Amino acid sequence: MNTNLRPRRLRGNPILRQMIRETRLELEDFIYPLFVEEMETGRKSIDSMPGMYRHSIPSLVEECGELIEAGINKLILFGIPKIKDPVGSQGYDDRGIVQEAIRALRKVYGGKLYLITDVCLCEYTSHGHCGLLNEVGSVENDPTVALLAKTALSHVKAGADMVAPSDMMDGRVDGIRRSLDESGYSHIPIMSYSVKYASSFYGPFRQAAGSAPSFGDRKTYQMDPANSREALKELELDLDEGADLVIVKPALSYLDIVSKVKEACKVPVVAYNVSGEFSMLKLAIAQGLMNPEVIEESLLSMKRAGADLIITYFAKELAQTWKGER
Ligand code: PBG
Ligand code: ZN
Repeated sequence: MNTNLRPRRLRGNPILRQMIRETRLELEDFIYPLFVEEMETGRKSIDSMPGMYRHSIPSLVEECGELIEAGINKLILFGIPKIKDPVGSQGYDDRGIVQEAIRALRKVYGGKLYLITDVCLCEYTSHGHCGLLNEVGSVENDPTVALLAKTALSHVKAGADMVAPSDMMDGRVDGIRRSLDESGYSHIPIMSYSVKYASSFYGPFRQAAGSAPSFGDRKTYQMDPANSREALKELELDLDEGADLVIVKPALSYLDIVSKVKEACKVPVVAYNVSGEFSMLKLAIAQGLMNPEVIEESLLSMKRAGADLIITYFAKELAQTWKGER
């Protein structure tokens, strides 16, 4: 051993370790997902996601007060309508649940919250697919893009700051960009779920949002988990179409993809720490199998891989924990 070289010298003191830390997690990194359901009052806990709720608008407004207090100011909203139909019409209805929620939040909190909306049809369609079906039950790309563009525009008209299409149709960033630009919203950014895999890690979310497909799966539009060069193809297309930020989803089993995407582009890269990744740790912690520090470790790995931002259900609890510590 060369006794001059002792890496442990830099690990002996907590202040020193903090001083030379290469990656840090900050509250500013987080975007917090929230579910809003079309119901009068109250909230329902989500069994598959401990600590998460489906909020009514009044409950959402209350929750956001707590979030602002805790230092969380970026949200991504998911809507759960009362009525679903084959064409997902509640998704692009100006009186839809997400549209009403945005108006309510804006009224109470003004610019204190940055409101992003998930743009997809699966929460609104009776069949649970992310788009329109043809006679043989497969998702029709271009007619779906037109409805997604309509959905995005309706969110923005209600006051959304940014839209995030999660459907994985070809050309939807272009479709949404055009529709926003034509209506005078060329300043509204699009955060595209550019690289989204057909993943079992979405299981708890689909229970939460009641958005599991009633037949088949999403493999004809979401990506094959085996592919990595294809991620760069999707990235390139979305950038060409004008995506302002790009999401890689899921995150934890796809850190190699986060890293590649980061190297391949100059826009902010967002990792989506999905529901399965969240619930897996929550359950393990509840069982005493791991200590809660595992949460920060797993989010840190996403930043280390290159994520500029993280969409995470852990945002609120971390913010509250840090409040006492930092
Ligand atoms: C809707 C959508 C999904 C997620 C975000 N937007 C579900 C899906 O694609 O089936 C997953 C989020 C999560 O698992 O946390 N398309
Ligand atoms: Zn969808």
